[in-house]
Amino acid sequence: MQKPRTTSGLDLHLVLVGSGRRESLERALRDAVRSGRLAPGARLPSTRALARDLGVARNTVVEAYGLLAAEGWLTSRPGSATRVAAHAFAPRPEPAVAGPGARPVRFDLRPGAPDLASFPRRAWTNALQRALQEASPAALGYPPAQGLVELRRALADYLGRARGVDAAADRIVVCSGFAQGLEIACRLLGGTTVALEAFGHRRHREIVETATGMPAATLPVDDGGAVVGRLRETAAGAVLLTPAHQFPLGVPLAPERRMQVIEWAREAGGVVIEDDYDGEFRYDRRAVGALQALAPEHVIYAGTASKTLAPGLRLGWLVLPARLIGDVSAVREVIDGPSALDQLALAELLGNGGYDRHVRRCRLSYRQRHDRLVAAISGVPGARVRGVAAGLQALIDLPPGRTEAEVIASAAARGLTLNGLASFARDATPHAPALVAGYATPPAHAFSGAVARLVATLRDVASPTGGPRAGP
Ligand SMILES: Cc1ncc(COP(=O)(O)O)c(C=O)c1O
Repeated sequence: MQKPRTTSGLDLHLVLVGSGRRESLERALRDAVRSGRLAPGARLPSTRALARDLGVARNTVVEAYGLLAAEGWLTSRPGSATRVAAHAFAPRPEPAVAGPGARPVRFDLRPGAPDLASFPRRAWTNALQRALQEASPAALGYPPAQGLVELRRALADYLGRARGVDAAADRIVVCSGFAQGLEIACRLLGGTTVALEAFGHRRHREIVETATGMPAATLPVDDGGAVVGRLRETAAGAVLLTPAHQFPLGVPLAPERRMQVIEWAREAGGVVIEDDYDGEFRYDRRAVGALQALAPEHVIYAGTASKTLAPGLRLGWLVLPARLIGDVSAVREVIDGPSALDQLALAELLGNGGYDRHVRRCRLSYRQRHDRLVAAISGVPGARVRGVAAGLQALIDLPPGRTEAEVIASAAARGLTLNGLASFARDATPHAPALVAGYATPPAHAFSGAVARLVATLRDVASPTGGPRAGP
């Protein structure tokens, strides 16, 4: 079933790939929603029309619609057309809860983005210009499945040097950010059960469980990172980890657990998906090297330019075990990679040292922000910053007796947007109330104001009356 087909009436173009008609149809519909081709609220063809156009049994379409409705992608009401759900796919971080009377958002401490105002525009423009001047006409054709070799070579050099990754250009796959890297990894691993950290990025859970339909298990997380010793109690054949700096708790995976998870992978034939999203940013001592170097045949290493440069570039990379490389072309037939020009520009920036210079500049600036945040919070009774000095986010334990929702609402009244730890908890994992503060998010001129509002909010809720007082 490789042929593209077009439904009549409503112009819905779906490509069914792979065996299993219902699964292929579900996948094609999810892809269409995720890519925005089917917008929220869009009407779908009737089951009869779609079945006729695709040459499948009507029941196949009825079942696919039913399952996607149960998963929240579609809505259907008796007597009316099936439609794409209003919030079927939300690529941005969870919106913060704004209480009544919230001021317009002027300050943002949600995690997820670096300081976008510091994007190296001149260096990027120069790299792009140079790349364009030197690109052969062939380089502007469809990029190869693994990405342009110029970028893969530059990444192999950088990852080996900066992150200790065992990387060779022929093991690298360039992808549209980590999000797509994770989707590719899942597709390569087939229906394997994936263990997910009990706290993590909601979008990544959605990619594993909903977009690629992988069975998932939960791994508890404590002060030593993911409790990987529990992997054997699950049916998992793969595990998604943030070993350098657990997201969002901020702790590194304890050294003995690094060994433990590698032993599990070797013994069980398992795969570790290593999300090295902010490994470049470690402020207290030398960065912890990539786990991948310990067992390159059992680890899918994943990196991204979203924290070092900007998420808008949608540039990321995987380093794959040799046995998985052969299947990448088939996956690329259904999901496209990043623009050839952006790939060439990043290769140029890595090659001319501009990337390293930018990372060093950002590291210094984020380190100062981290230290200022910690100093400011240390003056608030009952509040505490947890996690190592690294990355772009910090976990702030709340004063006793306070809930995340009330702190978030109180901050919103001051024009400050925050995320609580609950929005990153899988299966409503119980936890002590905390905030996840993305201290890289505000532009430099707004950082002091954002921290002042955070401190004022925490002081208010820590005070015996808990009521708002005058302040920023
Ligand atoms: C845990 C984690 N991994 C990876 C990423 C980067 O994702 P992407 O490369 O898709 O922008 C983020 C971004 O917020 C993240 O929080």
